[in-house]
Amino acid sequence: MYPGLVTVSYIGATILFILALGGLSHPETARRGNLYGMVGMFMALVATIAGITANLGILIGGLVIGSSIGLILARRVQMTQMPELVAILHSLVGLAAVLVGYANFMDTTVHFAGVEHTIHAIETYLGVLIGGITFSGSVIAFGKLSGKIGGNPMLLPGRHWLNLGLLLGTFWACKMFVEQSGNGGGLVPLMIMTGIALLFGIHMVMAIGGADMPVVVSMLNSYSGWAAAATGFMLGNDLLIVTGALVGSSGAILSYIMCRAMNRKFIAVIAGGFGTTTGGGGAAKEGEQGEVIALEASEVADLLRESKEIMIIPGYGMAVAQAQHIVCEITKTLRAKKINVRFGIHPVAGRMPGHMNVLLAEAKVPYDIVFEMDEINGDFPKIDVAIVIGANDIVNPSAQTDPDSPIAGMPVLECWKSNTTIVLKRSMATGYAGVQNPLFFKENTRMLFGDARKSLDEVFKSL
Ligand code: TAP
Repeated sequence: MYPGLVTVSYIGATILFILALGGLSHPETARRGNLYGMVGMFMALVATIAGITANLGILIGGLVIGSSIGLILARRVQMTQMPELVAILHSLVGLAAVLVGYANFMDTTVHFAGVEHTIHAIETYLGVLIGGITFSGSVIAFGKLSGKIGGNPMLLPGRHWLNLGLLLGTFWACKMFVEQSGNGGGLVPLMIMTGIALLFGIHMVMAIGGADMPVVVSMLNSYSGWAAAATGFMLGNDLLIVTGALVGSSGAILSYIMCRAMNRKFIAVIAGGFGTTTGGGGAAKEGEQGEVIALEASEVADLLRESKEIMIIPGYGMAVAQAQHIVCEITKTLRAKKINVRFGIHPVAGRMPGHMNVLLAEAKVPYDIVFEMDEINGDFPKIDVAIVIGANDIVNPSAQTDPDSPIAGMPVLECWKSNTTIVLKRSMATGYAGVQNPLFFKENTRMLFGDARKSLDEVFKSL
C-alpha cells in the first residue's frame, strides 16, 4: 500500500476511535460507539498489514492464532467473568510492550548517536518499565478478581520504603542503561529494571484491598494504554501512539471518577491498605446485629403490588444469577399497573465500570428509568419499596456510621430510608469487601433468600 494511503487510514482509524470513546459514554450510543471502534480497528489492522513488506507470513500466522484465541475466549466468557478477562487482556498489552522493548534493544540494524541515542534508549526503557508493571499488576488483578488470590491487602512491613527503594532502583538502572547501551551493552540494567517493574506491579496490586479494586481495574486500563503508546514510540507507529494515549487518558479519567465514587484519594489507593480491618470490625459486630425477617416470594409480590414508588438496586448478584431479563419482565408488569419503577445504579456496583448498565441494556430496560446514584439518592424517603437484587457493599449503612469500617466514607445508596427494603440474596454472606451489612438487620428490611433469578421467577408468577 502507498505510504500516503496508510497515513490516511491511520487518521481515519484515529477519528473512529475518538468517536467510539464518545459513543461509549452513554448507554444509548454505546452500540454505535462499539461499531466505530470495530471499524476503526479493522482499518488500522488492514493498513498496518498492507504497509509491511517483510515477514508477512509470520504476521498473518500470528494474526490467525491471536484472532482464534480471542474469538473462542469471547464466545465462552460469562458476563460475570468479564472483569477478569479485561484484566488478563491488559496483561497481554504489558507483555507485548516488554517484548517489543527487548526486540528493539536487540535490533542491530538501527544505530543512533548523541541525543538520538539517549531518546531511543529512554523510549525502550520506559516501554519495558510500564509494560512490566502493567503485566504483573494485571496478572495479580486477574487473580484477585477471579477469587484465585484473596481480596485482603498484603501489607509488608516498611512497604512504602520498599516502593521508594524500587523507584530509586529504576532511576539508577535507567542511567546505567543509557550509558551502557551506547557501547553495545545495557542488557544487565535492562533486566534488573524488568525484575523491579514486575515486583512493583505485584506488590502494588497485592497491597490493595478488595474495596479498592474498581480503581485498580481502571488504573491498569490506563497503564495498558500508556504501555501501548510506548510501544508505538519504539516501533515508530503513530496510530499506536495516538490509540495508546486515548486509552491511557480515558483510563486515567475513569480512575478519577472511580476514586470520586468511592470517596478515595488516588494516592491513598496506590499506597494500598484500604480494607485492612476487613473481617475484623465487621465480624466482631456480627453477633450483635439482631434478627433478620425473611419473606416468601408471594409476600414480596404483594408488597410490590401495593406500592406506588419502587426503586430497584441491582448488584453483582444480579449478574451472577443472570436475573436481568426477569427483572425487566417484572418492571414491565409493575409499570403496566401504573407503579413508578426506577433503577438506582451505584458507580462501583458489580465488578467492572458500567457492569449494571450493560446488563440492564442487554435486557432492554428503558434507559430513562435508570438513574445514577447521585441523581436518586435523595429520593429514598419517598420510596415505598426498595428492592436490592444481589447487592451488598453498595447499600451498606456502616460506610456512613462506622468510621472503622473498611468501606468507611464510600458513598452508598441509602435504601434503608425507604418505607421497606427487600434484599434478595442466597445467604447472610458478606459482599466483595468482606464486611457485614447492618442493613439486613434493620426493622424495615425484609430478606428474600435464594438465587435471585429463581426468587424473581416466583415473584413474577405471583404478580
Ligand atoms: P457485593 O458487595 O459483592 O455483593 C454481592 C452480593 O450478591 C453478595 O452479598 C451475594 O450474597 C449476592 N449474590 C451472589 N450471587 C447471587 C445470586 N446468584 N443470587 C442472589 N444473590 C447473589 O456486590 P455489590 O453490592 O455490587 O458491590 C460491588 C463490590 O465489588 C464493591 O465492594 C466494589 O468495590 C467491588 N468491585 C467493584 C468493581 C467495579 S469496577 N464495579 C471492580 C472490582 C470490585 P450471597 O452469597 O449471600 O448470595
